[in-house]
Amino acid sequence: MKGVVLAGGTGSRLRPITFSMAKQLIPVANKPIIEYGLEDLAEAGITEVGVIVSPETGGEVEAAVGDGARLGLRLNYILQDRPLGLAHALKTALPFVGGDDCLMYLGDNLVKDGVRDVVADFQEHRPNCQILLCPVDNPSSFGVADLEPDGRIRRLVEKPTVPPSNLALVGVYLFDGSIAEAVDAIRPSARGELEITDAIQHLVETQRTVRASVVSGWWKDTGTKEDLLTAQELVIPLVAHGIEGEVTGGRLEGAVHVGRGSQLVDCEVTGPVVVGDDARLTRVRLGPQTSIGHGCRLSDAAVEGSIVMDGAEVYGWRLRNSLLGRGARLHGAAPAPFVEVTLGERSEIVG
Ligand code: TTP
Repeated sequence: MKGVVLAGGTGSRLRPITFSMAKQLIPVANKPIIEYGLEDLAEAGITEVGVIVSPETGGEVEAAVGDGARLGLRLNYILQDRPLGLAHALKTALPFVGGDDCLMYLGDNLVKDGVRDVVADFQEHRPNCQILLCPVDNPSSFGVADLEPDGRIRRLVEKPTVPPSNLALVGVYLFDGSIAEAVDAIRPSARGELEITDAIQHLVETQRTVRASVVSGWWKDTGTKEDLLTAQELVIPLVAHGIEGEVTGGRLEGAVHVGRGSQLVDCEVTGPVVVGDDARLTRVRLGPQTSIGHGCRLSDAAVEGSIVMDGAEVYGWRLRNSLLGRGARLHGAAPAPFVEVTLGERSEIVG
């Protein structure tokens, strides 16, 4: 079985962060989102992986993720010249798949239990397609499954205004060679994309076997800032914790990771919190649910429930539910209460 990881797209809902970086490289608990999916593939024994990238961010994704050797994978980067939909991305990868079975994984998704069990289930039952479903509160934002009383799929619909169920399609799909005919048969949807739901619907209508199972652990699609922060809340307690840097004074409580070369002076830290390497924090109230990237500088500040990316600086400000791009800066006279900020790469607010 081959892996196909989708790391193209536009990421428009995560602007301004995605004006200057690939969505799939945004760190969640200090690790690029895409690496969680790649690790899941490696754990399931899938080593040949095609990574779909866009002309805008492909170089950056390849530079950051590399050839996959450190993850035990062989990665092949495949250019999708325009973001014409998930089924278009898969179609672009089909020459690489070469008629084998494949597992398509959306590069901005996180699945708690990984994909090992679903791969084993697919191999045991040999359907033409296997999908994972997860109950959600806002099904209109996802592809949604309408099931027969016996659990077979009646219909799949993309972002329905009136959802037929609360079962969203998780961004992990397994196919055998019959998907090639389905992606050729479908036409662009009203939003101009080749929809993967339409391709799977085509399999249903042509009497192929489509097997569905409901995930037992959580699943998170990280399309928006709120999704990213929730994803981090789910992931951060699972990250290994320990102090590799230097902590002087202050107080640490709960699960805290401080990376190599980092210094925390007189900080009050309430885990779960991760601090990257070579960061300097002085008199900072940190956490819970917070990640501070490598090389950040913070003093006389407070940060909770936030993602602060590499090289960002915060002096005097108090943040919650915030997303600071790489090298972003907040300084000057800070607003008195906690504020919620999304700040693009190397952007600056002087209070
Ligand atoms: P989406 O989140 O559906 O799309 P997007 O990344 O363009 O984001 P937005 O809606 O905010 O503009 O994409 C899911 C994943 O699939 C994500 O990792 C990007 C990737 N993708 C491709 O690789 N090619 C595509 O044509 C599309 C639409 C998405």
